[in-house]
Amino acid sequence: MTSQESAPNLTVQAEEPLEGLLLEDKSKFKTCSQIGFYRRQKLLHPDQSPYLAQLDTLKMENGIATLNILHQRTKVPLQLQVIAVEGNIVRLKIKELSPLKPRYEVPDVLVKEPTTGRFNILLQETETVVLEHPSGTSKVHIHSQPFSIMVTQEDEALFGINSQGFLYFEHLRLPPEKREPAETDTKVQSDKSEQDVFGLWKEKFGDFVDVKAHGPSSVGLDFTLYGFENVYGLPEHADIHCLKDTGENEAYRLYNLDVFGYRVFDKMGTYGSVPLLLAHKPSYTCGIFWLNASETLVEINSKAALQSQLQSNSPDIRKQKAVPKMDIRWMSESGIVDVFLLLGPMPQNVFNQYAQLTGTQILPPLFSLGYHQCRWNYEDEADVEAVDSGFDEHNIPYDVIWLDIEHTDGKRYFTWDPDRFPGPVKMQKKLREKRRKLVVISDPHIKVDPNYTLYAEAKERGYFVKDREIQNFEGSCWPGVSSYIDFTNPAAREWYSSQFSLEKYKNATDILFVWNDMNEPSVFDAPEMTMPKDAVHHQGWEHRDLHNLYGFYQMLYSQQMSTSDGLIQRSGGKERPFVLTRSFFAGSQRYGAVWTGDNKAEWEYLKISVPMLLSLSVTGIAFCGADVGGFVGDPDPELLVRWYQAGSFQPFFRGHAMQGTKRREPWLFGEENTLLIRKAIKERYTLLPYWYLLFYRAYRKAELVMRPLWVEFSKYQDAFALESQYMLGNALLVAPVLDSGVKSIDVLFPGAGEYWYDFRTYMLVKGPHRQKMAVTLEEIPVFQRGGSIIPMRTAVGKSTAWMGSSPYELHVALDRKGLAVGELYVDDGYSLQYLHEHMYSHRRFTFSRNVLSSSSADKEGRYAVDCILEKVYIIGLKKSPSKVTAHCSGGKKPMEFTYNNQLCLLSLENLSLQVCADWEIHIV
Ligand code: GLC
Repeated sequence: MTSQESAPNLTVQAEEPLEGLLLEDKSKFKTCSQIGFYRRQKLLHPDQSPYLAQLDTLKMENGIATLNILHQRTKVPLQLQVIAVEGNIVRLKIKELSPLKPRYEVPDVLVKEPTTGRFNILLQETETVVLEHPSGTSKVHIHSQPFSIMVTQEDEALFGINSQGFLYFEHLRLPPEKREPAETDTKVQSDKSEQDVFGLWKEKFGDFVDVKAHGPSSVGLDFTLYGFENVYGLPEHADIHCLKDTGENEAYRLYNLDVFGYRVFDKMGTYGSVPLLLAHKPSYTCGIFWLNASETLVEINSKAALQSQLQSNSPDIRKQKAVPKMDIRWMSESGIVDVFLLLGPMPQNVFNQYAQLTGTQILPPLFSLGYHQCRWNYEDEADVEAVDSGFDEHNIPYDVIWLDIEHTDGKRYFTWDPDRFPGPVKMQKKLREKRRKLVVISDPHIKVDPNYTLYAEAKERGYFVKDREIQNFEGSCWPGVSSYIDFTNPAAREWYSSQFSLEKYKNATDILFVWNDMNEPSVFDAPEMTMPKDAVHHQGWEHRDLHNLYGFYQMLYSQQMSTSDGLIQRSGGKERPFVLTRSFFAGSQRYGAVWTGDNKAEWEYLKISVPMLLSLSVTGIAFCGADVGGFVGDPDPELLVRWYQAGSFQPFFRGHAMQGTKRREPWLFGEENTLLIRKAIKERYTLLPYWYLLFYRAYRKAELVMRPLWVEFSKYQDAFALESQYMLGNALLVAPVLDSGVKSIDVLFPGAGEYWYDFRTYMLVKGPHRQKMAVTLEEIPVFQRGGSIIPMRTAVGKSTAWMGSSPYELHVALDRKGLAVGELYVDDGYSLQYLHEHMYSHRRFTFSRNVLSSSSADKEGRYAVDCILEKVYIIGLKKSPSKVTAHCSGGKKPMEFTYNNQLCLLSLENLSLQVCADWEIHIV
């Protein structure tokens, strides 16, 4: 939510015309043509790169190739480093050989300095150098004049770099007044009158002036992806999953902004940025990770290339034919060129490569995979109690109730409003008795108020971001005039982190978790409603250098600390944190969950939530969700029901609504709708064992929780651009209903020879096949893939904590060969003992030759689980058995069963096997 400049405490009432507010907001954001560095870079002409690689300067040190690149007119030398990173990754770094001052290189995002291998020089001639990656399959061909690079895989062209000549590097220079007139490098910079137009030293936007103390420092580079037609990633945009050709004068913008009620199908930046682009074709998947935290623009153009361009060694004219290619041009406002080419070759290899660099999804506490109930705002303690009881009265499970900004004393975070929340401890005690949690909001802006301890302390310690005059930056946000904690300062993070300790955070208890919002950061009275780029951070870095990292840093913990770590420290290092953030960067997955901000209660926002979450998922952010029901406006009951049904199959599942909207707790829309919403939420809870397993695999193996079809069916081209349906793990196909009043939806069942079973009726559909599936308001279509085994609970409780000992059931869906496999992962759901003490149980289930068996998937796990496996459904079993016996440590026992001929379904409903023990069920 953002506000008008003059009204920091804006409260929008439901009857106010929201459109007016949105239109006004839009003009507050820049278009590409209003961005100085974009206009400067666009002056380059294709195929006329002024850069020359001085191959005679090539040095190999520890297998890293270093050489100089020279701008032929300015003669300013750059240094290129080509680094072979373990695991089939090539890293390219281009920086100034001797800059006037250091340039920003993104810290803290990589989990560690990547392990490098040794390049082998295969060829060294005046015009070309060829390096062989230690993986043995990829080679880097560096061409001298003009400078360009070709990366080949098995001797086929994969990436061309600077092949269009868009390498751009503004070297740091003295301000014009301190410079000799001859010291200029481009026509633009030599023409004083154009300096303002191109924003070299000063850039205007409306009434705002950005003063560039260090002058222009933009960087850019082009990449050609040969043979590719589909690219993905680059969140966050409210756009389709398979990214569009941007044309030549538009770009996907990566610049974290508070865009209230953002427009759909838009390339402008929203709350977070992950500068990772993935490219996929049936035979290959690769990625480009552009490690730069300043404002970044990415142009995507698809064109055909001539076959001869793809032969690195011997162009053969007779072989010429057009093949597809994608040209990707990256442009950033400052920093250096630091780019990782993730060479795949399969989708999962690229996810592993990216995770090796930036880490995997933190394993969330189990409660956070349940349903969350939020609203701006639950008014007071009585309201919280009534809503909490409402769930019990209506027999709907939920885990967490959320308090928005109004719970604080005048938007002073870490405090409580004394009138509305006079007894927060008692309130939390009641929630604890119900075995539920509380999440409260904690924004990065701190009210300027000398009597507010947090403000006074941060001020005294010098922990606020400074303005360009090196005074504490002050801007307007919810509390009015505020200063902003400089989370890039490790000492500030540590201090902030300590605020979550139970001694410091008055009236907080250990069931309280945290929501970081407005952390783009949102500043109502600043350009584009975010922090001015000339604000100054720790160690003198300008905000422009690290803007996209601000939200990341608010959550960061590890060596340094902040919100997430504050929660771990609070428990003496024992418990998992839960933090939700609105702003994020590459690596934020290591700290918590992300949601897609201020969407609207309209069908198109429900629809766009799917591609938005898929784009987050493929860039490592597995724990993501969208406000169920839509934040702005009032959903009609049908939309609300459909949103619950979709949300229950999305990773982060929270209902939220803006201040002034009509109340919309699940039971307020008549008995029929309550029933439907209850059913959707309950289904989520029965599936929690599967969700938890998927998160464990995301954490351990960088596997996607929510998967676009192209990831799972990487050769099946019909699925490459599909975004109305997706997979959850590798076993469930989800096709949410995204339009009003529909009686049927089109479902694509991918995969030659794949079997798909309706999750509720067990009806079989064979892939590949496209079919209109009838839908009612009851539920959305979901299918289980043949060959999978899904663990579920037989019954749900009031919250996840009530379900610790609920029995399990297994849904065994057979593939065409009569086989199936699956897993179960169980731990205590809240502590870090799984990490340090192997306190978990990880089981594998297999069905083969009519035997279902349970065995250990990880011998190190030593968590004792006392839970019964009560039911097993074997779906797709061709004939009725005569006998079913269970074999376990207690011996052999005959089992009761029923068999449905029509559905080929065997049901065993009275088992009492230990779910985490070794056993076998024999079907004869
Ligand atoms: C922002 C958030 C929204 C929250 C509101 C008040 O708009 O995106 O979720 O309710 O601020 O804190």
